[in-house]
Amino acid sequence: MLDDCGRRIDYLRISITDRCNLRCVYCMPEGGVSTLRHSDILSYEEIVRLTGLLTRLGVRHLRVTGGEPMARRGCLDLVRRLHETGGVETIAMTTNALLLRGRVAEARAAGLDALNISLDTVDPATYAAMTRGGRVEDVLSVIDDAVSLGMRVKVNAVPVRGMNDHQLAALAALARDREIHVRFIELMPVGCGAGLSPVPSDEVLARMEAAFGPLAPDTSRHGFGPARYVRPEGFAGSIGVISPMSHEFCDTCNRVRLTADGYLKLCLNHQAGLDVRALLREGADDDVLLEALRAAIARKPARHGFLEEIGDREERRMNEIGG
Ligand code: GTP
Ligand code: 5AD
Ligand code: SF4
Repeated sequence: MLDDCGRRIDYLRISITDRCNLRCVYCMPEGGVSTLRHSDILSYEEIVRLTGLLTRLGVRHLRVTGGEPMARRGCLDLVRRLHETGGVETIAMTTNALLLRGRVAEARAAGLDALNISLDTVDPATYAAMTRGGRVEDVLSVIDDAVSLGMRVKVNAVPVRGMNDHQLAALAALARDREIHVRFIELMPVGCGAGLSPVPSDEVLARMEAAFGPLAPDTSRHGFGPARYVRPEGFAGSIGVISPMSHEFCDTCNRVRLTADGYLKLCLNHQAGLDVRALLREGADDDVLLEALRAAIARKPARHGFLEEIGDREERRMNEIGG
């Protein structure tokens, strides 16, 4: 469907848990994270039902997120069920990959088309420090398994000044011999990201050019998100940037989000949305739900407003939103 700004909404991000096996510095605090109770989060039946309704409103592409989606038991069973939902064309997952070790073939068989893997550096010590405990070798083994099984693979890195910003070229070099896309995301001032120092995409691209030479625009489609891609000579894959802060892309936004506790979020940085869980658990029938979803999506905010005063700024952390 089209929202009131005329944007086609065909992409749904489904956060299935706020829990995570890591504690990345820009996303979660080191300790004392309050997590939702099991009864607070949508059951897989509820998620499948809502997804079916949203496909009737035009959703075609799904992304399963978290926290860490693989930290919720049965995640791949959910993927299988979503894959069988009529109208769904692609299913992807955003993951830190650690719990996919040895399970990539199973994920592929469940119907996952693509993996976006969070990896901020290839340096083992920096990775362990930024994630507070992860092993980079485990992530690299999942990337190679997924590529060899023919899945579309992207890497998501958040450059943070003073942490991983001197190692960005080594990370991007993963795309030299592999047909994968390494994307650098501008740090957003959400939750734990607010106190850290971002590196703007233009600076990242200048560093890439210094390391790899001229960057040709890569205009092929890689997924359904806001990244812009370039390709240095001799690269099998490409390098991307996602620039919500320096090059706002809200006028082409195609997505809504469902949080693990059943709230339909219309924009990453706004609280505006719909408490779908309340409607589901009050026993609303499909027609009532469809009308409520349609009316909510129509009112999707025009812009994120990170740099302005807005009345309903999101206060939850990224692990509760799903990125
Ligand atoms: P594909 O390009 O289809 O693979 O998907 P994607 O890039 O949208 O998905 P992914 O989960 O990998 O998102 C990468 C980063 O982009 C995350 O940090 C998101 O928070 C950020 N991002 C994705 N969509 C939006 C958005 O609508 N607004 C903002 N501000 N950031 C977004
Ligand atoms: N700013 C930008 N990206 C973030 N992510 C988590 N927190 C932030 C933030 N504050 C990214 C993760 C993951 C994706 C879902 O969101 O690196 O790849
Ligand atoms: Fe976990 Fe992803 Fe947040 Fe890191 S960015 S703590 S992997 S949810």
